[in-house]
Amino acid sequence: MWGCGDNFPVLFPHPARPSWRSCRRCRSQRRSHCCQDRRLRRPRLLETTHSVETPYGSVTFTVYGTPKPKRPAILTYHDVGLNYKSCFQPLFQFGDMQEIIQNFVRVHVDAPGMEEGAPVFPLGYQYPSLDQLADMIPCVLQYLNFSTIIGVGVGAGAYILSRYALNHPDTVEGLVLINIDPNAKGWMDWAAHKLTGLTSSIPEMILGHLFSQEELSGNSELIQKYRNIITHAPNLDNIELYWNSYNNRRDLNFERGGDITLKCPVMLVVGDQAPHEDAVVECNSKLDPTQTSFLKVSNLLQGKLTEAFKYFLQGMGYMASSCMTRLSRSRTASLTSAASIDGNRSRSRTLSQSSESGTLSSGPPGHTMEVSC
Ligand code: BEZ
Repeated sequence: MWGCGDNFPVLFPHPARPSWRSCRRCRSQRRSHCCQDRRLRRPRLLETTHSVETPYGSVTFTVYGTPKPKRPAILTYHDVGLNYKSCFQPLFQFGDMQEIIQNFVRVHVDAPGMEEGAPVFPLGYQYPSLDQLADMIPCVLQYLNFSTIIGVGVGAGAYILSRYALNHPDTVEGLVLINIDPNAKGWMDWAAHKLTGLTSSIPEMILGHLFSQEELSGNSELIQKYRNIITHAPNLDNIELYWNSYNNRRDLNFERGGDITLKCPVMLVVGDQAPHEDAVVECNSKLDPTQTSFLKVSNLLQGKLTEAFKYFLQGMGYMASSCMTRLSRSRTASLTSAASIDGNRSRSRTLSQSSESGTLSSGPPGHTMEVSC
């Protein structure tokens, strides 16, 4: 069997015939469409976008990779002002992340009206509440015939995935919740929100949700990039609807030891100057400490997040320690340099020792710890 890439069998040039035979592998008659054409030969990522109808309207999602037997799908949900690409591309396309994600099929859900090229909803359109957005997820999984997930959510997306996990605990194997605020807005928050609304535009309010005041006043290239994306988004009206649903969220009512709690391993992540730091700390105090890891990072450096994600999956028994790069092993020291939130250094040291000896996967699924990187 030959592929036409290595040795294009050049027949006698004849104006009525192609100057090469069709490829036996992909059967293409045209060299430029052949699987062996050098331009197409770099590893191709299988990426397909789908939409399904749900009781609350249609939802679009993009699938990367192919389903792996006996493995959950990684399902992501993005924050307000973003879509799956602007939220997760920096993380999922980060070099070190490849060795993790290649072992999983990924499903990236776009909140309705946030997908690229989404038309603006008509005036008066009733945008789904966050609880309803969570109730759309079963339709996605049913369509794909996936039974379990590891959820990765940011901000509003973290809330949605938590709500989904509360309603469907048997289908969620783990959750990575970045900058989650599980509480409904109190009247003080509403008053502050209303006041801010008098002086700030919707994009500025959303930027205040995504970034700390320090980051915003620093006006780095990253901030300028996101300010530009949100301010000039053709679907800004849709973004405002998602923003309103986020601000009208109910309390998730987590209670440690109570009935309303997350039953799966959870990794809570927050930036140490993030607007949601207190909310995430409080959330950590309400979840089962044997199932929850709390990761506080000085900023959401992808390297640190990737590494923590890898440990998290290892703790669930999904990443063999042999998958850990030497780089990430050597970085372990920096992951353990800070005391835990309750001053218990030994617990975070346990993670270090276990990880370095490659035995984290046999330990308990989670640790409550604070890690400053
Ligand atoms: C992925 O490989 O899952 C991915 C690629 C690009 C953007 C977001 C996710």
